Amino acid sequence: MKAAIVRGRGEAPVYGDFAEPVPSAGERLVTVTAAAVSPLVRGRAAGTHYSSSGQFPFVVGVDGVGRLDDGTRVYFALPKAPFGSMAERAVVPSAQCVAVPDDVDDVTAAAIANPGMSSWAAYAERARLQAGETVLVNGATGTAGRLAVQIAKHLGARKVIATGRNAETLRSLPALGADVTIPLVEDADVLEKSFKVQFEQGVDVVIDYLWGRSAERLLAAAARAGTDGAPVRYVEVGSASGPDIALPGAVLRSSAITLMGSGIGSVGVDRLVTAIGGLLRAAAPAGFAIAATAVPLSEVEQAWSRNEGSRRTVFTVGEA
Ligand SMILES: NC(=O)c1ccc[n+]([C@@H]2O[C@H](COP(=O)([O-])OP(=O)(O)OC[C@H]3O[C@@H](n4cnc5c(N)ncnc54)[C@H](OP(=O)(O)O)[C@@H]3O)[C@@H](O)[C@H]2O)c1
Repeated sequence: MKAAIVRGRGEAPVYGDFAEPVPSAGERLVTVTAAAVSPLVRGRAAGTHYSSSGQFPFVVGVDGVGRLDDGTRVYFALPKAPFGSMAERAVVPSAQCVAVPDDVDDVTAAAIANPGMSSWAAYAERARLQAGETVLVNGATGTAGRLAVQIAKHLGARKVIATGRNAETLRSLPALGADVTIPLVEDADVLEKSFKVQFEQGVDVVIDYLWGRSAERLLAAAARAGTDGAPVRYVEVGSASGPDIALPGAVLRSSAITLMGSGIGSVGVDRLVTAIGGLLRAAAPAGFAIAATAVPLSEVEQAWSRNEGSRRTVFTVGEA
């Protein structure tokens, strides 16, 4: 079958022929129609993501949309290695397939699943967000962050605070539901003060796409502003600005912060797929917006290194 193949460490995917996947008991053969590029897909392709297998060659792509042999249109996640989703066919455990509603097309479903899941799973599975709570999204200007603002409101958040370094995108976030926007300025004291004002008014849940310097300031502000035992559920979802932070022990002793992560490993794959099912069913009625560019899989070599800007590249196969 035709597929986008990574043949060795550090190599970009090439379009070529790969062995056909054969389903075992409990698995389904999926005829793929659409598979999106995401930071996870790029990290796995480069072998830098924590969930990379380190084995070559393999077909790139961690998820996608396609048809089962009975014609059911499904989203599927984490195909059996070395097969990936950027191929004509993939094999996936049955529990990792979920029906795509009729009001979402294949390209949109493929594009929105990973960035939308990042917050849907964090809110539902980790933070257990309750209606009426206040959410702060750190790094809300990316694809996942913008969806996190919309999804927080959809799941009943009363107030959403959005931070970001991109001033122009930040200005667009109130239209998506942000009640407060905070620019991520260089000055650490100014930044901490603007965070502290929000924590003094009450923040229940933080969803963090950045980690690094802004996370340090957020945690310090939460600790300093926190009133006696007021809990803050802090969910680390991405490390776009840095892999590590310095965390003084006093921040944890002086506050009721619960620090956790959300992603592959901290949420079971079945729960991640359940979250994506909820996201896809809500996508059209709630008007979740995502900009996607459909590109035939045969053009993967040219498209892989193209700057996507704020759009998502979705490779299409066959009838999508
Ligand atoms: N755990 C999960 O389940 C999960 C799922 C999906 C994604 N993620 C992670 O979430 C993160 C965002 O994903 P995405 O799909 O939204 O990626 P994306 O569309 O590429 O967005 C990344 C955003 O990060 C911002 N950024 C990068 N460095 C920054 C810095 N130093 N300070 C402030 N902002 C910075 C960029 O801001 P500008 O707009 O200013 O360029 C961009 O908007 C990634 O780290 C990804 O791996 C996690």
